[in-house]
Amino acid sequence: MTARTLHPLHTRLQGELQVPGDKSISHRSIIFSALAEGTSTVTNFLDGEDCMSTIAAFQAMGVTIEKSGNTVTIEGKGIDGLQEPTEPINLGNSGTTARLLLGVLAGLPFHFSLFGDASLTKRPMDRVAIPLREMGATIDGRENGSKLPMSVRGGQLSSITFHPPVKSAQVKSGVLLAGLLADGVTEVVEKVATRDHTENMLQAFGGKISKQEETIRIEGGQRLQAIDMQVPGDISSAAFFLVAASLVKDSQVTIENVGLNPTRTGIIDVLKQMGADIVVIEEKAIGGEPVGTITVKQTPLRGITIDGEIIPRIIDELPIIALLATQASGKTIIRDAEELRYKESDRIASVVDTLHALGAKVEATEDGMIIEGNSSLTGAELDSHGDHRIGMMIAVASLIASDDIVLHNPDCIAISYPSFFEDLQKIIG
Ligand code: S3P
Repeated sequence: MTARTLHPLHTRLQGELQVPGDKSISHRSIIFSALAEGTSTVTNFLDGEDCMSTIAAFQAMGVTIEKSGNTVTIEGKGIDGLQEPTEPINLGNSGTTARLLLGVLAGLPFHFSLFGDASLTKRPMDRVAIPLREMGATIDGRENGSKLPMSVRGGQLSSITFHPPVKSAQVKSGVLLAGLLADGVTEVVEKVATRDHTENMLQAFGGKISKQEETIRIEGGQRLQAIDMQVPGDISSAAFFLVAASLVKDSQVTIENVGLNPTRTGIIDVLKQMGADIVVIEEKAIGGEPVGTITVKQTPLRGITIDGEIIPRIIDELPIIALLATQASGKTIIRDAEELRYKESDRIASVVDTLHALGAKVEATEDGMIIEGNSSLTGAELDSHGDHRIGMMIAVASLIASDDIVLHNPDCIAISYPSFFEDLQKIIG
């Protein structure tokens, strides 16, 4: 579909919903199952295009992976069971596949060539290639070895102590995965905590990893065992409905079975600080990840300043938070979020352009944006910029806009949330 016309909503949002499985956890479930010994079964796997790129990459290395709906079965043969692919690996749009896979490939005694789509080809890979080279891998690519297409010749790696130059779970995870295949103990010193699904899942598969203050340590050569696991709902997908319900008059929406890992729940903290009526009930832990139910009721909101340590905990939610801020009273300032420039689109530019086109008052800064509240949003003709989270932000904006919005390139929403419009429909009325 090249364009979709979105109409303003003249009713409230109400009801219960379950969002699809977590994208970060789905990727890692394939990676760890493929490295483990035995057959793993993953349920509630995210059927998004990004996670299919991870499946295809391991199939290309000879791993038997079968998918039936949201259940995936992976026949792991251990690290020694992986084979050299005969063709280049297509990473599609997926930054997570690229950065995490680079870590695995660096430790395998084969040659790989990797490429991605136009968006991924622009994104920086040196942040993970540099430490992997230091560990002993040969990695080359466009623009002095920093961008896709890239080639990797992996092999026996030595451990390092790595101080990531950026706050990125993908970079941390790439180095930890390489550390699992390296000689000795690899350390990653993380000044600001980022999502820790790699650490949690490694332990669920029987591996050992420790964290003392800022230093994460992993010993190389550990063998992992297959498990059966269930993926919790993705809080980053739930965020679109949490914001929609906070904005649309008289709404009340409950999202069940949502992952509540504390490294991911910044959206709940931001909503609370802005004055939202939000209730979170933590219910259980699945595969080392807390899960629960979130209920939000529409209520007036106020602008806040968002910066510092919370940024990695809301990095994927900042576009939808920016939309929320246009409706709050007062100003919202987002700082320390330069990483937004290196996402599926430059999300400082794409969010600011989009909100401007809708009639909001927003100003881009080097590492964030300043958003004036109390804006009425108009109809507009907009493009998703090929970025799933911008596409969904526009869809939520259309609910409260004064006129129709024509959204060009809506198909990218399937990267992380193929059933987004069907799920939205379930709570309309
Ligand atoms: C992810 C980490 C984040 C996030 C991405 C998924 C992960 O990227 O934006 O959607 O699964 O590790 P960075 O770690 O590069 O910020």
